[in-house]
Amino acid sequence: MDLTHRPRRLRRDRVRGLVSETSLEPADLIAPVFVDATADERIPIESMPGHERVPVDESVARVEEVLETGVEAVMLFGIPESKDPDGTRAWADDGVVQEALRRITDETDAYVITDVCLCEYTDHGHCGPLEEELRSEGRVAADAPACEPTLTVDNDAALEALEKIVTSHARAGADMVAPSGMMDGMVGTIRKALDRDGFEHVPIMSYAAKYESAFYGPFRDAADGAPSFGNRRHYQMDPANSREAMREVRLDAEQGADVMMVKPALPYLDIVSAVRREFDHPVAAYNVSGEYAMLHAAAEKGWLDLEATALESLLSIKRAGADLILTYFAEDVARRLPGGR
Ligand code: PBG
Repeated sequence: MDLTHRPRRLRRDRVRGLVSETSLEPADLIAPVFVDATADERIPIESMPGHERVPVDESVARVEEVLETGVEAVMLFGIPESKDPDGTRAWADDGVVQEALRRITDETDAYVITDVCLCEYTDHGHCGPLEEELRSEGRVAADAPACEPTLTVDNDAALEALEKIVTSHARAGADMVAPSGMMDGMVGTIRKALDRDGFEHVPIMSYAAKYESAFYGPFRDAADGAPSFGNRRHYQMDPANSREAMREVRLDAEQGADVMMVKPALPYLDIVSAVRREFDHPVAAYNVSGEYAMLHAAAEKGWLDLEATALESLLSIKRAGADLILTYFAEDVARRLPGGR
């Protein structure tokens, strides 16, 4: 055969590394960590094998486990001792995240990012206080139909709460804050509050394009943050939309976001790639709980190779354009990468 082009020439073992376009390092990964104020001991999360909710007393030990693998950053989620309609434990100086933050930042070198949201702290499980008319009717019934009511969270009241949350996190030592509630104006409000209180050096990683996704299921068990009625459609994005994601990212850029996150990751790689092309901010992608759980479930059945599919997933997210990846696979994958331990 007289073939000019033989791409297979560059696929031989000794040359593959030289021509490889994408690489993954432990320093690209952020490991989510769950701290639970109601726990006396570590509680395994059933739908996320290998992950646990840890008591505040164990938070330093948990973060040290992450650091031992070569991963340098964690994202902290809190499960409070009590919940109320406004989510007031989210900004308590003695709240679960604030307590854990002080210890972790005192005792470890981890770069600590906090998830800034109200859904784990409100008794109704929504990402902000409910609108006045819903509240005055009393609690909305748990069996209210999923499509009703269409407008539940009071956006601007949520912003006031987010201001209090970020400043309490910053006072407790957060290195970076990550607002995840998809409230309009959240980035601008948070930036102003941080600057006003002397935290102008604390960056904001915005969950800029966060979709209303069924892939968050296992997380909601883990963090006990499922909405008790309705859904999050009126604040999280419609999976059908991609131009809207560009608009969300643009608004967050105007409001001063430092890092743009797309979430989930694998079903939304087109969005990761578009944000990479259109913006020059660092791009983060959140490989969410459902993406983790489905590989584990298939591997348990013997249908997939867990290590190989996890690595391929993260590499694909990186190839699509993510600079950093939040993933429950962080520790397992990092151990097997060059630079990992
Ligand atoms: C909101 C938040 C959620 C996740 C991260 N932050 C849940 C939601 O929006 O319902 C989901 C993460 C995952 O599924 O891994 N605080």
